[in-house]
Amino acid sequence: MAKQQAGNKPTMADQADRHVLYQKSVQAPEAEVAFFDQVFPELRGRKALTMKEDFCGTAYLAAEWCKSDPQRTAIGVDYDEETVEWGRKHNIEAEGGDLADRITLHIDDVRNVTEPKVDIVCAFNFSYCLFEKRNELIDYFKKARESLVDDGLLILDLFGGTECEDVVEEETEIEDEPATYIWEHVAFNPIDHHMKCAIHFEFDDGSRMQNAFTYEWRLWAIPEVRELLEEAGFSKSRVYWEKYEDSDDDDDELEGTGEYEEVTEVENQESWMIYIVAEK
Ligand SMILES: C[S@@+](CC[C@H](N)C(=O)[O-])C[C@H]1O[C@@H](n2cnc3c(N)ncnc32)[C@H](O)[C@@H]1O
Repeated sequence: MAKQQAGNKPTMADQADRHVLYQKSVQAPEAEVAFFDQVFPELRGRKALTMKEDFCGTAYLAAEWCKSDPQRTAIGVDYDEETVEWGRKHNIEAEGGDLADRITLHIDDVRNVTEPKVDIVCAFNFSYCLFEKRNELIDYFKKARESLVDDGLLILDLFGGTECEDVVEEETEIEDEPATYIWEHVAFNPIDHHMKCAIHFEFDDGSRMQNAFTYEWRLWAIPEVRELLEEAGFSKSRVYWEKYEDSDDDDDELEGTGEYEEVTEVENQESWMIYIVAEK
């Protein structure tokens, strides 16, 4: 990760914490817990209390899950020790109370942790796409299925859209931070759908945190993921699409509402982010 220097004075990029910026620009754990609370009772007729966050990174979602109900517990699994320990300190221990007792973190490969069984397994920010071969992804889905109680759900997200295969750079200002989040599609190979993406942060003093996070994964298509879930033994999968409404500013523009509904047919968009919910 290269940082620009401005003389001897440390720049904003030098002083910034990439995990704080990542969480603020990429993650929305409250919205994800709200989605779990919509879909699990709808499909299973009860409240979910146990959740495993695969590829948990800083376990931001696991912490939010446990904060949403004192009875809730979570397991987080990620093999990157530095990131997990940052999360333990900032997202769990800093919260105090009994949060640390209700969250178990494993520094391990997601395919190694299948006990204890949980109501929900989730893999967010497209992390399972890091498994680029069919057999690898089926194997991961089998392990995720094994981790579920009998009426458990696996919840995944996925992105796509017409501009997804283009090399693009998208900038978003980060709320309450003197920084801009930059999401870059660095490369896409149509032959194997291998994709390189990067996250950079640019600061108000002109400094930049280049390649704060980089990913190489396969851009899986929705039907491929659903077929592999079926091959892994899941009985049914559903696609949840964000509801859109006319924006106030411009009559032609549609704006996401943050609410998701199950759909089977939609018009394609420049870019979309969906949830796939698979029933054990
Ligand atoms: C795209 S980040 C997602 C972080 C977080 N889940 C989120 O939603 O923002 C991917 C994470 O997966 C972890 N990871 C990748 N492959 C893994 C594997 N096989 N087992 C465990 N963790 C893995 C990386 O260390 C990284 O923290």
